Amino acid sequence: MDLKTKLEQLFEENHKQIGRTGDLDELNQIRVNLLGKKGPITEVLRGMKDLSADERPKVGAFANQIKSDLQDAIAARKAALEQAVIQKKLAQETIDVTLPGDQVIAGTPHILAQIMDDVETYFIGQGYQVIDGPEVEEDHYNFEMLNIPKDHPARDMQDTFYLDSQLLMRSQTSPVQARTMEIHDFTQGPLKMISPGRVYRRDTDDATHSHQFHQIEGLVIDKHITMADLKGTLLALAQHVFGADRQIRLRPSFFPFTEPSVEVDVSCFRCNGAGCPICKYSGWIEVLGAGMVHPNVLNAAGVDADAYGGFAFGLGPDRFAMLKYGIDDIRSFYQGDVRFLSQFQQEG
Ligand code: PHE
Repeated sequence: MDLKTKLEQLFEENHKQIGRTGDLDELNQIRVNLLGKKGPITEVLRGMKDLSADERPKVGAFANQIKSDLQDAIAARKAALEQAVIQKKLAQETIDVTLPGDQVIAGTPHILAQIMDDVETYFIGQGYQVIDGPEVEEDHYNFEMLNIPKDHPARDMQDTFYLDSQLLMRSQTSPVQARTMEIHDFTQGPLKMISPGRVYRRDTDDATHSHQFHQIEGLVIDKHITMADLKGTLLALAQHVFGADRQIRLRPSFFPFTEPSVEVDVSCFRCNGAGCPICKYSGWIEVLGAGMVHPNVLNAAGVDADAYGGFAFGLGPDRFAMLKYGIDDIRSFYQGDVRFLSQFQQEG
């Protein structure tokens, strides 16, 4: 058989085989056998040395043509088989998008945490520091440093859980004022702080009393602070929490650590002052206590009361939440009933 016929035969056989194989490994094997150094095509090319000078280039060109056609056929088959593999995989991985999904039940911060976070963020934006204090507190800081000496009748305002004669569960967040004033370096600038946290009182739990609730204390001490600064601060806070149209009014009150002291009302956010059950038809709702820091408190903390002064306020997140969301029982916050808590999904 002459070389050309041999090459034609080789082409026929292998071309068929390439077309038939459905397996990439097998195809690779065919390629190696056919085109490798010991393969039939190389063998044919080697036999060309016996051809005449006239025939050699013709057969050579033909052999190269056959070789390149077979290479093309292998490449084409390989692409087709690879494509088939992908198609098969895709078919297997098809997702039925009409199946109902698994519901993800996302938790949400406690409503009181949300309110406290919001007030904190608000005051941080005004340049205040957020400072924590201990819940187990010394009588010294909870009372004495705040101008409430032992046996002072003002102690009756806050019925307190004593752990021993010196230690108690703090009845207010005001001791954090005293602790911070004591260590603040006023040569470095004014003191602007808030202190959120739990407080404890010997109250019998009912719809409006809880033996444990929350307060956020605020304190600003600097030179030349006036009651107008306090009023502006509280108006802006009331508008932030209860709505941009709110007004506030101050009523004289008494706290041992502030003089003068005030009770602060906000205009009713439900009826806008017209009178409704929420504001008990007065148009105003009491929201917090505040005042100008008493000189005795400044002096006790080692702050020169002649040079420095400031204001303090204490607000109740529990009360804010009850007012804002119409919650009529403070105990709801502490019972951990998910049906109650999950109503307050955090926005955003
Ligand atoms: N500590 C006071 C209370 O618990 C609230 C208050 C704080 C009042 C700061 C004035 C200034 O009743």
